[in-house]
Amino acid sequence: MPAITATTPGKIILFGEHAVVYGQPAIAVPVNQVKARAIISPGIGQPSGWIYLQAPDIDLEGTLEDIPHDHPLVIAIKEVLQETGIEQPPAMIVRITSTIPVAAGLGSGAAVSVAMIRALSEFLGVILSDERVSQMTFEVEKIYHGTPSGIDNSVITYQQPIYFSRGDGTNSPQMEIIRVKKPFTLVIGDSGIPSPTASTVGDVRKAWQVNKTVYQELFQKTGRITEQARTAITKGNNELLGPLMDANQELLGKMGVSSPELDHLIHAARETGAQGAKLSGGGKGGNMIALASPEIAHQIAGALSEAGAVRTIITTVE
Ligand code: PMV
Repeated sequence: MPAITATTPGKIILFGEHAVVYGQPAIAVPVNQVKARAIISPGIGQPSGWIYLQAPDIDLEGTLEDIPHDHPLVIAIKEVLQETGIEQPPAMIVRITSTIPVAAGLGSGAAVSVAMIRALSEFLGVILSDERVSQMTFEVEKIYHGTPSGIDNSVITYQQPIYFSRGDGTNSPQMEIIRVKKPFTLVIGDSGIPSPTASTVGDVRKAWQVNKTVYQELFQKTGRITEQARTAITKGNNELLGPLMDANQELLGKMGVSSPELDHLIHAARETGAQGAKLSGGGKGGNMIALASPEIAHQIAGALSEAGAVRTIITTVE
């Protein structure tokens, strides 16, 4: 039995974070400069049912029994076994590696789950549909996020720019792959401040509970920006995207999820000639993104590093 490898990209949210949890649409794109990888190889000489997990990036190593049962990786493995109906799988070593920073809004959790679910199911001789991989990842995501919208598992499963809406609870999630008419360049800057998504999503929920009218309006305005952005991307009107990013950032600030550090990076990017900039993901830390012409992307990345970014990534959305 040969080893099986599956690799997935990271992602960033371009428009609509937080509002998407409340039924508004959002846009997310893959980031191919960072990757999660799962390699499943046979556990030679070990009895069937023996599963040995190695995830050096998070210092996790041991047999399935040694690792807490509610660990997302353990849950993902069990989901695959259940899905494939295989109770006693052949002995195997599951190795997970990732260059996607954790808790930075780059989708590390979903990327690891998608890679794992794809590699393990293939190792067991079952090819799952993208839709099923995405659904199973969503189940695992609930452990990371509490109330995830479903956008991370979708963009990472399909590895294409997506327009996503979870619906209002009465209808099912809607996902469309966005055809990008004219490629555009983004500079991603990591504030270096870890910010688990579950905590910012929880903070927004508390604030929404106290002030539903105000938050509902912020979410709706965000939704309209996202719609305009989708049209601009599909028509190639990229010059509209920068101002839309700025407008989205203003609303995110009002939701209470920006931070002085993110504001500082966003300001530095705009000062250096970015056409627009905003935080991306849960906020209060993690990453920001800036829209840049390819000629000055490196200059903006340099300005972000000088302004305190611990990592920058230049990526093209196409
Ligand atoms: O922090 P990230 O990039 O994983 O994304 C969080 C996006 C939210 O809209 C805040 C939450 C969600 O589940 O969509």
